[in-house]
Amino acid sequence: MSHDHAICAYTTFGARTGYPLLLIHAFPLTGAMWFTQAQSLSLAGYFVIVPDLRGFGASPVSPLPVTMDQMAADILAIADECHIDRFAVAGLSMGGYVVFALLRLAHQRCSHLMLIDTRASADSESGLQGREELALLAIENGSKSVADRVTPRLLSEFTVQNNRATVETFYSMVAGNDPLGIANASRGMALRPDSTALLSSIAAPTLVCVGEIDTIATVDESRAMANAISGAKLTVLPNAGHLTAIESPGELLYAMASFMRNTGIQRER
Ligand code: MLT
Repeated sequence: MSHDHAICAYTTFGARTGYPLLLIHAFPLTGAMWFTQAQSLSLAGYFVIVPDLRGFGASPVSPLPVTMDQMAADILAIADECHIDRFAVAGLSMGGYVVFALLRLAHQRCSHLMLIDTRASADSESGLQGREELALLAIENGSKSVADRVTPRLLSEFTVQNNRATVETFYSMVAGNDPLGIANASRGMALRPDSTALLSSIAAPTLVCVGEIDTIATVDESRAMANAISGAKLTVLPNAGHLTAIESPGELLYAMASFMRNTGIQRER
């Protein structure tokens, strides 16, 4: 079901009596990247909420850089509108950066965390330069140029060679986004702080999940992140790249569903 009351757009799956689970998308995609997992998890009994972050999909575009804190505040506004106090939350890549901001703003509202293909570190000097280059590419040449630029970075060689349907889904999500939305999220990611020091304070049950051949959030960085979070579970998806939600949708779904079942989420509400 689509909603347009809160500042950002979101889609819900399943009955409101289920345990709430928020799925936060990667850059520069939309909430639609989660629809395979959202549909299945709603059938398993969860109330799944999938926002379009500010600047993406059906959400409004900001004329200024959108910080991860702003995106986290938008998520909390959606939870408030749905009358949800505590929720499980999964963030993939940029979605994970938003989860770290959520923990800074309102950790008590996050009951369970899934940090997927993401990292706690801030951007390197060359990373910061890349953010601004991508922002300018979006503004000057449009979203299709961004889609062309990021395809080989975000999708694995295997997906590009063998999975035309996934490449097309990815491409149309990116190319359909507003160029200014992409630019201001790129600039907003550049402003995010390092979250490494936050990891040891996390008390919520946590899954860290990463594709084995992810080059953006590496297995080594994910292992270090899981080691720094008390009791966190690390799952490495074999042969999977960065955008596991669309490149290895069934494997990621299995990891998420197993984690939630094992932490007994459904029994809590
Ligand atoms: C993403 O997948 O959200 C982006 O690749 C994140 C990033 O560029 O750091």
